[in-house]
Amino acid sequence: PPHLVYRDHQLVMEDVALASLARAHGTPLFAYSKAAILDALAAYQRGLAGRPHLICYAMKANSSLAILQVLVRAGCGLDIVSGGELERALAVGCDPERIIFSGVGKTRSEMRHALQVGIGCFNVESEAELEVLDEVACDMGLRAPVSIRVNPNVDAKTHPYISTGLKGNKFGIAHERVVQTYLRAAACKGLRVAGIDCHIGSQITETGPYLDAMDRVLELVDAIEAAGVPLEHIDFGGGLGIDYAGDTPPSADALWRQLLERIDARGHGHRKICIEPGRSLVGNAGVCLTEVLYLKPGDQKNFLIVDAAMNDLPRPAMYEAYHRIVPVQPRDEPGLVWDVVGPVCESGDWLGRDRKLAVKPGDLLAVLSAGAYCMSMASNYNTRGRAMEVLVDGDQALVIRQRESAQDQFRMEQLLP
Ligand code: LLP
Repeated sequence: PPHLVYRDHQLVMEDVALASLARAHGTPLFAYSKAAILDALAAYQRGLAGRPHLICYAMKANSSLAILQVLVRAGCGLDIVSGGELERALAVGCDPERIIFSGVGKTRSEMRHALQVGIGCFNVESEAELEVLDEVACDMGLRAPVSIRVNPNVDAKTHPYISTGLKGNKFGIAHERVVQTYLRAAACKGLRVAGIDCHIGSQITETGPYLDAMDRVLELVDAIEAAGVPLEHIDFGGGLGIDYAGDTPPSADALWRQLLERIDARGHGHRKICIEPGRSLVGNAGVCLTEVLYLKPGDQKNFLIVDAAMNDLPRPAMYEAYHRIVPVQPRDEPGLVWDVVGPVCESGDWLGRDRKLAVKPGDLLAVLSAGAYCMSMASNYNTRGRAMEVLVDGDQALVIRQRESAQDQFRMEQLLP
Protein backbone atom coordinates (compact mmCIF):
# COMPACT_ATOMS: atom_id res chain seq x y z
CA PRO A 1 0.00 0.00 0.00
CA PRO A 2 1.05 3.60 -0.54
CA HIS A 3 2.62 5.57 2.32
CA LEU A 4 3.70 2.38 4.07
CA VAL A 5 7.36 1.39 3.72
CA TYR A 6 10.21 -0.23 5.61
CA ARG A 7 12.86 2.26 6.67
CA ASP A 8 15.85 0.96 8.68
CA HIS A 9 14.04 -2.33 9.43
CA GLN A 10 11.01 -0.46 10.71
CA LEU A 11 7.57 -0.31 9.17
CA VAL A 12 6.78 3.37 8.68
CA MET A 13 3.50 5.06 7.77
CA GLU A 14 4.20 8.43 6.16
CA ASP A 15 6.89 9.62 8.64
CA VAL A 16 5.68 7.78 11.71
CA ALA A 17 7.30 4.52 12.87
CA LEU A 18 4.44 2.17 13.66
CA ALA A 19 6.33 0.52 16.53
CA SER A 20 6.43 3.84 18.36
CA LEU A 21 2.67 4.25 17.92
CA ALA A 22 2.06 0.82 19.39
CA ARG A 23 4.43 1.57 22.26
CA ALA A 24 2.68 4.83 23.03
CA HIS A 25 -0.90 3.60 22.74
CA GLY A 26 -0.94 -0.18 23.03
CA THR A 27 -2.53 -2.70 20.68
CA PRO A 28 -4.73 -3.54 18.86
CA LEU A 29 -4.45 -0.18 17.18
CA PHE A 30 -5.70 1.04 13.81
CA ALA A 31 -3.51 3.60 12.05
CA TYR A 32 -4.62 5.43 8.90
CA SER A 33 -2.56 7.52 6.51
CA LYS A 34 -4.28 10.79 5.66
CA ALA A 35 -2.13 11.17 2.54
CA ALA A 36 -3.18 7.71 1.31
CA ILE A 37 -6.85 8.65 1.69
CA LEU A 38 -6.39 11.93 -0.16
CA ASP A 39 -4.39 10.22 -2.92
CA ALA A 40 -7.15 7.66 -3.41
CA LEU A 41 -9.70 10.47 -3.61
CA ALA A 42 -7.52 12.39 -6.05
CA ALA A 43 -7.70 9.48 -8.52
CA TYR A 44 -11.49 9.80 -8.64
CA GLN A 45 -11.26 13.59 -8.84
CA ARG A 46 -8.91 13.29 -11.84
CA GLY A 47 -11.20 10.74 -13.48
CA LEU A 48 -14.25 12.99 -13.16
CA ALA A 49 -12.51 16.34 -13.66
CA GLY A 50 -14.35 18.76 -15.91
CA ARG A 51 -17.70 17.00 -15.39
CA PRO A 52 -20.52 17.94 -13.10
CA HIS A 53 -20.07 15.34 -10.38
CA LEU A 54 -20.39 14.50 -6.71
CA ILE A 55 -18.28 11.93 -4.89
CA CYS A 56 -20.26 10.67 -1.89
CA TYR A 57 -18.00 8.63 0.36
CA ALA A 58 -19.87 5.49 1.50
CA MET A 59 -19.19 5.87 5.19
CA LYS A 60 -20.09 2.29 6.02
CA ALA A 61 -16.53 1.45 4.98
CA ASN A 62 -15.13 3.49 7.87
CA SER A 63 -17.36 5.94 9.66
CA SER A 64 -14.91 7.38 12.19
CA LEU A 65 -15.63 11.09 12.47
CA ALA A 66 -12.08 12.23 11.74
CA ILE A 67 -11.96 10.11 8.57
CA LEU A 68 -15.25 11.69 7.48
CA GLN A 69 -13.79 15.12 8.18
CA VAL A 70 -10.77 14.40 5.99
CA LEU A 71 -13.00 13.43 3.09
CA VAL A 72 -15.67 16.11 3.56
CA ARG A 73 -13.01 18.84 3.81
CA ALA A 74 -11.50 17.49 0.59
CA GLY A 75 -14.83 18.00 -1.18
CA CYS A 76 -16.76 14.77 -0.70
CA GLY A 77 -20.42 14.36 0.05
CA LEU A 78 -21.49 11.28 2.01
CA ASP A 79 -23.48 8.14 1.27
CA ILE A 80 -25.38 6.96 4.35
CA VAL A 81 -27.51 3.92 5.13
CA SER A 82 -29.02 4.65 8.54
CA GLY A 83 -30.19 7.34 10.92
CA GLY A 84 -26.98 6.79 12.83
CA GLU A 85 -24.87 7.51 9.77
CA LEU A 86 -27.00 10.61 9.15
CA GLU A 87 -26.07 11.83 12.63
CA ARG A 88 -22.41 11.24 11.82
CA ALA A 89 -22.72 13.17 8.56
CA LEU A 90 -24.30 16.12 10.38
CA ALA A 91 -21.76 15.91 13.21
CA VAL A 92 -18.92 16.55 10.77
CA GLY A 93 -20.77 19.43 9.13
CA CYS A 94 -21.47 17.78 5.77
CA ASP A 95 -23.79 19.95 3.65
CA PRO A 96 -27.08 17.97 3.78
CA GLU A 97 -27.56 18.53 0.05
CA ARG A 98 -24.44 16.43 -0.45
CA ILE A 99 -25.86 13.47 1.45
CA ILE A 100 -27.30 10.44 -0.34
CA PHE A 101 -29.40 7.99 1.66
CA SER A 102 -29.06 4.38 0.43
CA GLY A 103 -30.33 1.10 1.85
CA VAL A 104 -33.25 -1.29 1.54
CA GLY A 105 -34.88 -0.73 4.91
CA LYS A 106 -35.25 2.96 5.75
CA THR A 107 -37.70 3.53 8.58
CA ARG A 108 -40.29 6.31 8.64
CA SER A 109 -38.42 8.12 11.37
CA GLU A 110 -35.17 7.94 9.44
CA MET A 111 -36.99 9.35 6.40
CA ARG A 112 -38.49 12.15 8.48
CA HIS A 113 -35.15 13.18 9.91
CA ALA A 114 -33.47 13.11 6.52
CA LEU A 115 -36.29 15.21 5.02
CA GLN A 116 -36.12 17.68 7.89
CA VAL A 117 -32.47 18.40 7.31
CA GLY A 118 -32.88 18.46 3.53
CA ILE A 119 -30.67 15.67 2.20
CA GLY A 120 -29.78 15.58 -1.48
CA CYS A 121 -31.35 12.29 -2.52
CA PHE A 122 -33.06 9.16 -1.28
CA ASN A 123 -31.93 6.09 -3.19
CA VAL A 124 -35.13 4.07 -3.11
CA GLU A 125 -34.92 0.30 -3.38
CA SER A 126 -38.55 -0.88 -3.70
CA GLU A 127 -42.02 0.23 -4.73
CA ALA A 128 -43.19 -0.23 -1.15
CA GLU A 129 -40.49 2.14 0.08
CA LEU A 130 -41.47 4.67 -2.57
CA GLU A 131 -45.02 4.68 -1.25
CA VAL A 132 -43.99 5.18 2.34
CA LEU A 133 -41.54 7.95 1.45
CA ASP A 134 -44.30 9.72 -0.51
CA GLU A 135 -46.60 9.48 2.48
CA VAL A 136 -44.01 10.75 4.96
CA ALA A 137 -43.05 13.67 2.69
CA CYS A 138 -46.69 14.62 2.02
CA ASP A 139 -47.35 14.64 5.78
CA MET A 140 -44.48 17.09 6.18
CA GLY A 141 -45.58 19.17 3.19
CA LEU A 142 -42.30 18.44 1.43
CA ARG A 143 -41.10 16.76 -1.74
CA ALA A 144 -38.49 14.09 -1.28
CA PRO A 145 -35.77 13.99 -3.96
CA VAL A 146 -35.60 10.39 -5.17
CA SER A 147 -33.52 8.14 -7.30
CA ILE A 148 -34.49 4.55 -7.93
CA ARG A 149 -31.89 1.86 -7.50
CA VAL A 150 -32.01 -0.38 -10.51
CA ASN A 151 -30.67 -3.87 -10.59
CA PRO A 152 -28.75 -4.16 -13.85
CA ASN A 153 -28.43 -7.94 -13.49
CA VAL A 154 -24.70 -8.09 -14.14
CA ASP A 155 -22.24 -10.34 -12.37
CA ALA A 156 -19.65 -8.26 -10.56
CA LYS A 157 -17.50 -11.41 -10.23
CA THR A 158 -16.83 -10.91 -6.55
CA HIS A 159 -17.64 -12.76 -3.31
CA PRO A 160 -21.35 -13.77 -3.26
CA TYR A 161 -21.87 -11.94 0.06
CA ILE A 162 -20.75 -8.64 -1.44
CA SER A 163 -22.23 -9.02 -4.92
CA THR A 164 -25.40 -7.00 -5.23
CA GLY A 165 -26.27 -6.48 -8.88
CA LEU A 166 -27.62 -9.93 -9.74
CA LYS A 167 -31.30 -10.79 -9.99
CA GLY A 168 -31.33 -13.14 -7.05
CA ASN A 169 -30.53 -10.58 -4.37
CA LYS A 170 -32.44 -8.15 -2.23
CA PHE A 171 -31.15 -4.93 -3.76
CA GLY A 172 -32.70 -2.62 -6.32
CA ILE A 173 -35.65 -2.85 -8.71
CA ALA A 174 -35.63 -5.32 -11.57
CA HIS A 175 -34.84 -3.92 -14.99
CA GLU A 176 -38.30 -4.79 -16.37
CA ARG A 177 -40.16 -2.78 -13.74
CA VAL A 178 -38.01 0.32 -13.76
CA VAL A 179 -39.94 2.51 -16.22
CA GLN A 180 -43.32 1.89 -14.60
CA THR A 181 -41.81 2.58 -11.18
CA TYR A 182 -40.50 5.92 -12.43
CA LEU A 183 -43.90 6.80 -13.86
CA ARG A 184 -45.40 6.04 -10.52
CA ALA A 185 -42.81 8.13 -8.65
CA ALA A 186 -43.33 11.05 -11.02
CA ALA A 187 -47.04 11.02 -10.21
CA CYS A 188 -46.50 11.25 -6.43
CA LYS A 189 -47.03 14.66 -4.82
CA GLY A 190 -44.47 13.94 -2.13
CA LEU A 191 -41.67 12.96 -4.51
CA ARG A 192 -39.39 14.73 -6.96
CA VAL A 193 -37.54 12.45 -9.36
CA ALA A 194 -33.87 13.42 -9.27
CA GLY A 195 -31.88 10.55 -10.69
CA ILE A 196 -31.20 6.90 -11.18
CA ASP A 197 -28.72 4.72 -9.32
CA CYS A 198 -27.13 1.32 -9.22
CA HIS A 199 -24.46 -0.48 -7.25
CA ILE A 200 -23.37 -3.87 -8.51
CA GLY A 201 -21.19 -5.11 -5.68
CA SER A 202 -18.00 -4.55 -3.80
CA GLN A 203 -14.30 -5.39 -4.21
CA ILE A 204 -14.76 -5.41 -8.00
CA THR A 205 -11.43 -5.81 -9.77
CA GLU A 206 -12.53 -5.91 -13.42
CA THR A 207 -13.70 -3.12 -15.68
CA GLY A 208 -16.07 -5.30 -17.72
CA PRO A 209 -18.94 -5.57 -15.23
CA TYR A 210 -18.90 -1.80 -14.75
CA LEU A 211 -19.09 -1.15 -18.48
CA ASP A 212 -21.96 -3.64 -18.83
CA ALA A 213 -23.82 -2.06 -15.93
CA MET A 214 -23.33 1.41 -17.42
CA ASP A 215 -24.76 0.23 -20.75
CA ARG A 216 -27.86 -1.12 -19.00
CA VAL A 217 -28.31 2.01 -16.90
CA LEU A 218 -28.01 4.27 -19.96
CA GLU A 219 -30.59 2.18 -21.81
CA LEU A 220 -32.89 2.71 -18.85
CA VAL A 221 -32.19 6.44 -18.74
CA ASP A 222 -33.26 6.69 -22.37
CA ALA A 223 -36.39 4.63 -21.74
CA ILE A 224 -37.37 6.61 -18.63
CA GLU A 225 -36.93 9.95 -20.36
CA ALA A 226 -38.78 8.70 -23.43
CA ALA A 227 -41.65 7.93 -21.07
CA GLY A 228 -41.63 11.58 -20.02
CA VAL A 229 -39.67 11.56 -16.76
CA PRO A 230 -36.50 13.69 -16.91
CA LEU A 231 -33.49 12.68 -14.80
CA GLU A 232 -30.83 15.01 -13.44
CA HIS A 233 -28.10 12.66 -12.32
CA ILE A 234 -26.75 9.15 -12.69
CA ASP A 235 -25.45 7.61 -9.47
CA PHE A 236 -23.19 4.72 -10.30
CA GLY A 237 -22.62 3.44 -6.78
CA GLY A 238 -19.27 2.26 -5.43
CA GLY A 239 -17.57 -1.09 -5.46
CA LEU A 240 -14.12 -0.55 -6.92
CA GLY A 241 -11.74 -3.08 -5.37
CA ILE A 242 -8.32 -2.69 -3.79
CA ASP A 243 -5.18 -4.81 -3.74
CA TYR A 244 -5.43 -7.22 -0.81
CA ALA A 245 -3.47 -10.15 -2.18
CA GLY A 246 -2.05 -9.16 -5.52
CA ASP A 247 -5.45 -8.06 -6.87
CA THR A 248 -5.18 -5.69 -9.80
CA PRO A 249 -8.25 -3.46 -9.95
CA PRO A 250 -8.19 -0.62 -12.48
CA SER A 251 -7.29 2.77 -11.01
CA ALA A 252 -10.28 5.00 -10.35
CA ASP A 253 -9.20 7.48 -13.03
CA ALA A 254 -8.65 4.78 -15.66
CA LEU A 255 -12.02 3.23 -14.85
CA TRP A 256 -13.79 6.57 -15.15
CA ARG A 257 -12.06 7.47 -18.40
CA GLN A 258 -13.63 4.34 -19.88
CA LEU A 259 -17.02 4.85 -18.28
CA LEU A 260 -17.18 8.47 -19.44
CA GLU A 261 -16.41 7.31 -22.98
CA ARG A 262 -19.53 5.11 -22.83
CA ILE A 263 -21.56 7.93 -21.38
CA ASP A 264 -20.41 10.36 -24.07
CA ALA A 265 -20.87 7.87 -26.89
CA ARG A 266 -24.50 7.54 -25.89
CA GLY A 267 -25.05 11.28 -25.70
CA HIS A 268 -25.24 11.63 -21.92
CA GLY A 269 -22.04 13.64 -21.50
CA HIS A 270 -23.84 16.63 -19.97
CA ARG A 271 -25.27 14.65 -17.09
CA LYS A 272 -24.22 14.96 -13.47
CA ILE A 273 -22.42 11.84 -12.22
CA CYS A 274 -22.62 10.76 -8.60
CA ILE A 275 -20.60 7.93 -7.13
CA GLU A 276 -20.49 6.20 -3.74
CA PRO A 277 -17.02 4.74 -3.27
CA GLY A 278 -16.12 3.31 0.13
CA ARG A 279 -13.38 0.68 0.27
CA SER A 280 -11.28 2.20 -2.53
CA LEU A 281 -10.93 5.50 -0.63
CA VAL A 282 -9.87 4.15 2.75
CA GLY A 283 -9.09 0.42 2.52
CA ASN A 284 -5.39 0.58 1.76
CA ALA A 285 -4.84 3.64 3.92
CA GLY A 286 -5.19 1.64 7.14
CA VAL A 287 -3.34 -1.02 9.09
CA CYS A 288 -4.19 -2.84 12.29
CA LEU A 289 -1.25 -3.22 14.67
CA THR A 290 -1.33 -6.25 16.89
CA GLU A 291 1.09 -7.83 19.38
CA VAL A 292 2.12 -11.48 19.33
CA LEU A 293 0.99 -13.00 22.64
CA TYR A 294 1.91 -16.68 22.36
CA LEU A 295 3.47 -19.14 19.98
CA LYS A 296 1.76 -22.49 19.93
CA PRO A 297 3.51 -24.85 17.55
CA GLY A 298 1.72 -28.14 16.94
CA ASP A 299 1.74 -31.39 14.96
CA GLN A 300 -0.71 -30.28 12.32
CA LYS A 301 -0.64 -26.52 12.62
CA ASN A 302 1.41 -23.82 14.23
CA PHE A 303 -0.70 -21.17 15.89
CA LEU A 304 0.43 -17.65 16.46
CA ILE A 305 -1.88 -16.02 18.97
CA VAL A 306 -2.14 -12.24 18.68
CA ASP A 307 -4.11 -9.62 20.61
CA ALA A 308 -6.35 -8.57 17.70
CA ALA A 309 -9.32 -10.79 16.90
CA MET A 310 -12.41 -11.30 14.79
CA ASN A 311 -14.22 -8.63 16.78
CA ASP A 312 -11.64 -6.08 15.57
CA LEU A 313 -11.18 -7.42 12.07
CA PRO A 314 -14.17 -9.52 11.06
CA ARG A 315 -13.43 -9.89 7.34
CA PRO A 316 -11.41 -13.13 7.47
CA ALA A 317 -14.00 -14.84 9.70
CA MET A 318 -16.95 -13.52 7.67
CA TYR A 319 -15.74 -13.82 4.09
CA GLU A 320 -12.53 -15.82 4.38
CA ALA A 321 -10.96 -12.58 3.25
CA TYR A 322 -7.20 -12.33 2.83
CA HIS A 323 -5.27 -9.53 4.52
CA ARG A 324 -1.49 -9.36 4.27
CA ILE A 325 0.20 -9.67 7.65
CA VAL A 326 3.74 -8.32 8.01
CA PRO A 327 6.19 -7.77 10.86
CA VAL A 328 6.56 -4.21 12.11
CA GLN A 329 10.27 -4.81 12.93
CA PRO A 330 11.33 -7.79 10.80
CA ARG A 331 13.76 -10.33 12.26
CA ASP A 332 16.67 -11.59 10.27
CA GLU A 333 15.76 -15.25 10.76
CA PRO A 334 14.04 -17.93 8.74
CA GLY A 335 10.36 -18.07 9.64
CA LEU A 336 7.83 -20.78 10.30
CA VAL A 337 4.41 -21.19 8.77
CA TRP A 338 1.68 -20.04 11.15
CA ASP A 339 -2.04 -19.59 11.41
CA VAL A 340 -2.48 -16.14 12.91
CA VAL A 341 -5.40 -16.31 15.34
CA GLY A 342 -7.00 -14.10 17.97
CA PRO A 343 -8.06 -14.67 21.60
CA VAL A 344 -11.79 -15.02 20.87
CA CYS A 345 -13.37 -18.37 21.75
CA GLU A 346 -14.30 -19.42 18.21
CA SER A 347 -12.48 -21.55 15.67
CA GLY A 348 -13.49 -18.91 13.13
CA ASP A 349 -11.36 -16.37 14.92
CA TRP A 350 -8.42 -16.21 12.56
CA LEU A 351 -6.75 -13.30 10.77
CA GLY A 352 -4.54 -15.21 8.37
CA ARG A 353 -3.74 -18.81 7.52
CA ASP A 354 -0.45 -20.42 6.55
CA ARG A 355 1.64 -17.28 6.83
CA LYS A 356 5.41 -17.53 6.89
CA LEU A 357 6.66 -15.30 9.71
CA ALA A 358 9.71 -15.09 11.97
CA VAL A 359 8.34 -13.85 15.29
CA LYS A 360 8.72 -14.03 19.06
CA PRO A 361 6.18 -13.16 21.74
CA GLY A 362 5.99 -9.39 22.16
CA ASP A 363 6.68 -8.73 18.46
CA LEU A 364 4.34 -6.47 16.57
CA LEU A 365 2.52 -7.42 13.38
CA ALA A 366 0.63 -5.16 10.99
CA VAL A 367 -2.49 -6.47 9.30
CA LEU A 368 -2.64 -4.53 6.05
CA SER A 369 -5.54 -3.14 4.01
CA ALA A 370 -7.45 -2.66 7.24
CA GLY A 371 -8.87 0.80 6.55
CA ALA A 372 -12.24 -0.38 5.22
CA TYR A 373 -14.87 -2.64 6.78
CA CYS A 374 -12.73 -3.47 9.80
CA MET A 375 -13.32 -0.86 12.50
CA SER A 376 -16.77 -0.11 11.08
CA MET A 377 -17.72 -3.79 11.47
CA ALA A 378 -16.00 -4.27 14.82
CA SER A 379 -18.03 -5.70 17.69
CA ASN A 380 -17.73 -6.19 21.42
CA TYR A 381 -17.92 -9.97 21.30
CA ASN A 382 -16.24 -11.51 24.37
CA THR A 383 -16.59 -8.04 25.97
CA ARG A 384 -13.56 -6.92 24.06
CA GLY A 385 -13.35 -3.15 23.83
CA ARG A 386 -13.06 -1.74 20.35
CA ALA A 387 -9.55 -0.72 19.33
CA MET A 388 -8.01 2.72 19.36
CA GLU A 389 -7.65 4.64 16.11
CA VAL A 390 -4.93 7.05 15.04
CA LEU A 391 -4.67 9.30 12.00
CA VAL A 392 -1.15 9.74 10.67
CA ASP A 393 -0.36 13.00 8.88
CA GLY A 394 3.30 13.47 7.97
CA ASP A 395 5.24 13.02 11.20
CA GLN A 396 2.16 13.63 13.34
CA ALA A 397 -0.15 10.98 14.77
CA LEU A 398 -3.51 12.11 16.14
CA VAL A 399 -5.64 9.86 18.30
CA ILE A 400 -9.08 9.90 16.66
CA ARG A 401 -10.74 7.31 18.87
CA GLN A 402 -9.93 6.25 22.40
CA ARG A 403 -9.75 2.62 23.34
CA GLU A 404 -13.12 1.40 24.58
CA SER A 405 -13.23 0.30 28.22
CA ALA A 406 -15.39 -2.39 29.79
CA GLN A 407 -17.37 0.39 31.52
CA ASP A 408 -17.99 2.02 28.13
CA GLN A 409 -19.40 -1.29 27.00
CA PHE A 410 -21.84 -1.87 29.80
CA ARG A 411 -22.83 1.75 30.35
CA MET A 412 -26.25 1.11 28.77
CA GLU A 413 -26.97 -1.99 30.83
CA GLN A 414 -29.03 -2.16 33.98
CA LEU A 415 -28.26 -4.26 37.05
CA LEU A 416 -31.26 -5.97 38.62
CA PRO A 417 -32.53 -4.25 41.77
N1 LLP B 1 -23.17 2.10 -2.26
C1 LLP B 1 -23.96 1.11 -1.84
C2 LLP B 1 -25.40 1.18 -2.11
C3 LLP B 1 -23.42 0.02 -1.13
O1 LLP B 1 -24.22 -0.97 -0.74
C4 LLP B 1 -22.02 -0.03 -0.88
C5 LLP B 1 -21.43 -1.15 -0.13
C6 LLP B 1 -21.23 1.05 -1.34
C7 LLP B 1 -21.83 2.08 -2.04
C8 LLP B 1 -19.75 1.09 -1.11
O2 LLP B 1 -19.11 0.03 -1.75
P1 LLP B 1 -17.52 -0.06 -1.79
O3 LLP B 1 -17.00 1.06 -2.67
O4 LLP B 1 -17.01 0.06 -0.42
O5 LLP B 1 -17.26 -1.38 -2.37
N2 LLP B 1 -18.43 -5.66 4.40
C9 LLP B 1 -18.02 -6.06 3.06
C10 LLP B 1 -18.40 -5.02 2.02
C11 LLP B 1 -19.88 -4.71 2.00
C12 LLP B 1 -20.24 -3.64 0.99
C13 LLP B 1 -21.65 -3.20 1.17
N3 LLP B 1 -22.08 -2.14 0.31
C14 LLP B 1 -16.54 -6.36 3.06
O6 LLP B 1 -15.91 -6.24 4.12
O7 LLP B 1 -15.97 -6.73 2.04
